[in-house]
Amino acid sequence: MDQIKIFSPASVANVSCGFDVLGFCLDPIGDIMTVSKTKDKGVSLGVITGQKLPKDPLKNVATVAASALLKSHSSKIGFRIDIEKKIKPGSGIGSSAASAAGAVFAINELLGKPYSRKELVQFAMVGESLASGAAHADNLAPLLLGGFTLVRSNKDLDIIKLPSPKGLIVTIIHPKIELKTIHSRSILKNEIPLSKAVEQWGNLGAFVSALYTNDYDLLSRSMKDEIIEPVRAMLIPKFSQLQKIALDSGALGCGISGSGPSIYALSKGEIIANRVGKSMGIIYDKIGLDYEVHYSQINEEGIKIL
Ligand code: HSE
Repeated sequence: MDQIKIFSPASVANVSCGFDVLGFCLDPIGDIMTVSKTKDKGVSLGVITGQKLPKDPLKNVATVAASALLKSHSSKIGFRIDIEKKIKPGSGIGSSAASAAGAVFAINELLGKPYSRKELVQFAMVGESLASGAAHADNLAPLLLGGFTLVRSNKDLDIIKLPSPKGLIVTIIHPKIELKTIHSRSILKNEIPLSKAVEQWGNLGAFVSALYTNDYDLLSRSMKDEIIEPVRAMLIPKFSQLQKIALDSGALGCGISGSGPSIYALSKGEIIANRVGKSMGIIYDKIGLDYEVHYSQINEEGIKIL
């Protein structure tokens, strides 16, 4: 095989109670990447369409992640990466993770799979760190393993794939403003009160338990963020109103997707998920803010070969 075409999906990180450790993979939105073998060693960028991305291989997350892989597994050939970028950078649904994880996944396939999907996270993380200024695998892990994932440790990369309750539908609303992760991380406090931490790890533990037991009520009670959301909410237009209307419309929970500005909601079934999307849209219609709404099942497969 000399060339491979893959679909690298969008994802939602944090999921309210799991800052930097919890995430899940989305279905309909994603980048298409074509990676081809080249005679010249190393990694180069080919055609990039859809969005403006850095052309310098030292500044592009896909090539940086790919180079990290090739540092660990020497190859006599090189690789060229063409990207149809569909996930807008700075939208909060894992744009940089899709580029980084997609690149290492595709190259690993062309090399005959020397690494497992889980092992690929360490290389993708090098690209992700470049984009966000911090090493966190909460968007990468769901892309490579599919479904919901928990990162027990971002240092040791101890990653656990979690089950997904059937019938869970995601609503994403993307207000068309750009928010750089590096910026939305810079406003966070380094220290948090113990009482808030206790609430947060109570919710995270309960959320994970709810995934295993299909307990929608517990899932709903656990989707709370005591620490990050109160600080970041001010970056997102009308966040509190959107969250309230989503919950009033029947969502199990609603919060900031990753570092924003997209907002995600989880609902039981499509009817409620659609109602949630429409209600949130009305708030942005009223203030004349342009937005997109997406609906998705939990994508159990993650990155796939096309
Ligand atoms: N956990 C990350 C954050 C996800 O919230 O900053 C965005 O890359």
